[in-house]
Amino acid sequence: TDPVSGCPVSVGAAAFDPFGDAYQADPPEAVRWSRDEEPVFYSPSLGYWVVTRYDDVKAVFRDNITFSPSIALEKITPVSDEAIATLERYDYAMNRTLVNEDEPEHMPRRRVLMDPFTPDRLSHHEPMVRRLTREYVDRFVDAGKADLVDEMLWEVPLTVALHFLGVPEEDMATLRKYSIAHTVNTWGRPSPEEQLTVAENVGKFWQYAGTVLDKLRRDPSGDGWMPYSIRKQREFPDVITDSYLHSMMMAGIVAAHETTANAAANALKLLLENRTVWEELCADPGLIPNAVEECLRHSGSVAAWRRLVTSDTTVGGVPIPAGAKLLIVNSSANRDERHFEDPDSVDIRRDNATEHLTFGYGSHQCMGKNLARMELQVFLEELTRRLPHLDLVPGERFTYVPNTSFRGPEHLWVQWDPAANPERTDP
Ligand code: HEM
Repeated sequence: TDPVSGCPVSVGAAAFDPFGDAYQADPPEAVRWSRDEEPVFYSPSLGYWVVTRYDDVKAVFRDNITFSPSIALEKITPVSDEAIATLERYDYAMNRTLVNEDEPEHMPRRRVLMDPFTPDRLSHHEPMVRRLTREYVDRFVDAGKADLVDEMLWEVPLTVALHFLGVPEEDMATLRKYSIAHTVNTWGRPSPEEQLTVAENVGKFWQYAGTVLDKLRRDPSGDGWMPYSIRKQREFPDVITDSYLHSMMMAGIVAAHETTANAAANALKLLLENRTVWEELCADPGLIPNAVEECLRHSGSVAAWRRLVTSDTTVGGVPIPAGAKLLIVNSSANRDERHFEDPDSVDIRRDNATEHLTFGYGSHQCMGKNLARMELQVFLEELTRRLPHLDLVPGERFTYVPNTSFRGPEHLWVQWDPAANPERTDP
């Protein structure tokens, strides 16, 4: 209750706007007041309870029965009737996959599909990630200036995602086109007309995902998570349903791509803004793995996640009724000084950096976390080695597309002196 007005909604809670400039610029900073004063609050404009401290966010992630993930991918902005009609024309039937599936369905499915994510299996992808990264760096290494997002960090994770999923090479270009269109469109806050374009693209994306799936079914012997899932369906038809496969064919691209592309852009920006840290990495690449964790902690690409309360409960001592929706701000948890010492500083030797909640926590924790980590490591290894004198273009103003959760700069302009590239000076 606000001590002055007596209103149960405090001034900070009333002002909270996750689409506003402050949250977009820096989510953990925008809710610092909440971590300090009111770590669990109700936002009337959003219709969500917001949770901002480390222990509370982790406790919510840990209990996926009281706090159901079913609303994790629900659209925060309601879809127009016309857009729904468009989607229906394409027989759009996106179903729950893993991230938003409840028990008892979720865990058996996760177990059956886990093997391709084990470190041993992932190591097999590393040469492909490195080759792609080198190819993209080759394209701009002599230019002296590049937008790292447009020229590398967007497309490499997308191509890796398609390889990981086992999409046939000939379908990659098409899926890439839909995925980008869909992503670019959904990132904005679509007007009614824009919603129709989004719906068209999502509908086409859905149908094409079905076509690719049919092709994989005819020969599911190949590498990749989707052929693997099709093979597993024969053993576990009730766990791996047709609807699951079709939905994951589309959702998997988004899950693996945007998150990683944004994480890479956030990491490069953060490191270049902290020049001495960047120089340390150039001098000692052995520091890169923990630096990746520190970047994910300090400037992760998933700023907040959602849960639905299934029975009356408390979070951080605050009573919350069944049916309430929670916005758990994991980026804020990652900057909670109750858990991380001097949380706003970038410390690549931080001994508990891996305890960040950017990948979630508990039974739904990101399955792709080690693939993402490997990609980020390869990007940093290649860029520190080939462009150690890389710098941000001075005066650059970073823009973020307003949304609660997926976060990364839209562009990242960097510059360097090609004549000083190590490959020129020491071929
Ligand atoms: C789930 C973040 C990359 C596949 C999640 C969740 C988060 C997340 C926050 C929900 C966790 C929870 O509810 O506790 C990220 C970030 C990434 C990343 C920040 C990159 C830096 C990837 C990649 C893949 C992937 C590369 C590869 C396919 C998945 C899957 C789930 C998931 C399948 C659902 C797991 C489940 O519900 O059991 N991720 N992710 N992610 N992620 Fe990622």
